[in-house]
Amino acid sequence: MNHLLSIGNLSRDEVQSLFRLTAALKARQKAGDREAPLAGRSMALIFEKPSLRTRVTFEVGMAQLGGAAVYLSAQEIGFGIRESVPDIARNLSRWVDIIAVRTFSHATVEMLASHATVPVINGLSDLEHPCQALSDFFTLWERGLDLTRIRFAWIGDGNNVCHSLVLLAALLGTSMTVATPPGYAPDARIQAAARALGGQLRLTTDPSEAAEGADVLYTDVWISMGQEAEREQRLAAFLRYQLNEQLLARAGPGALVMHCLPAHRGEEISDAVLDGPQSVVLDQSGNRLHAQKAVILHLLGGGDV
Ligand code: CP
Ligand code: NVA
Repeated sequence: MNHLLSIGNLSRDEVQSLFRLTAALKARQKAGDREAPLAGRSMALIFEKPSLRTRVTFEVGMAQLGGAAVYLSAQEIGFGIRESVPDIARNLSRWVDIIAVRTFSHATVEMLASHATVPVINGLSDLEHPCQALSDFFTLWERGLDLTRIRFAWIGDGNNVCHSLVLLAALLGTSMTVATPPGYAPDARIQAAARALGGQLRLTTDPSEAAEGADVLYTDVWISMGQEAEREQRLAAFLRYQLNEQLLARAGPGALVMHCLPAHRGEEISDAVLDGPQSVVLDQSGNRLHAQKAVILHLLGGGDV
């Protein structure tokens, strides 16, 4: 079974064909083409955490492809409580063609996938957010950037979004520097996987060093969903890591500012930078729609649209 649980499930060729398909789907949508390659097909969406972008883009994406989506909050189905995750996976596989899931623990995504007989997409776990990374690198690719020449800087927490970006950068040959406070570096397994792919990954605790001459500056919240109890400790640890005008001034002249959103304005990023002319955050979120349609078609074997 083909799943997208991690960027590690994809080859470089698959990512490149996903980018071409994403561009084609985006152009089709813009042209008002209403072809329905997924007529009669359906998706279940299971969410243990809140979402704006991931939920809307999966639901609208399925509708644009002619299919349907059913949203299930973990609370409403008693995910792992009223019924075990394997039983839910086996039941859903009888009714729907594909499942997207957002969980706290990555082990839950893996458990669901190992018992489902339909493809499973990770819509964010504590370890990875592969759909986000695909959309982000597509956003750079569609601007015509040579991904093997740019310098990509991550500033902040070595979290789920960072992990998927580190893996995708390694796969695509993008040089990446990650600046985190001590103790918040990306997971050692992700670092090892990136290096095994031949990735040029540098780690530092100095945000200025990462930003110096960078072509892309990316940040994300300091307190991810599920980490609310660590708020005070994290705010103190990340104080020097805000993406603001001073940090942006160290980057290359046309550097792009990225953030997966939602942003905690005034914490990891200043208003002026988030809303400024170098910010491409709305291109990133807009592209989620098309990148995920490409992923769905790819997993369902309909990627030749
Ligand atoms: N970036 C992202 O996944 O947003 P949501 O949490 O709103 O889905
Ligand atoms: N790192 C954030 C990303 C949200 C899209 C979180 O996990 O809450």
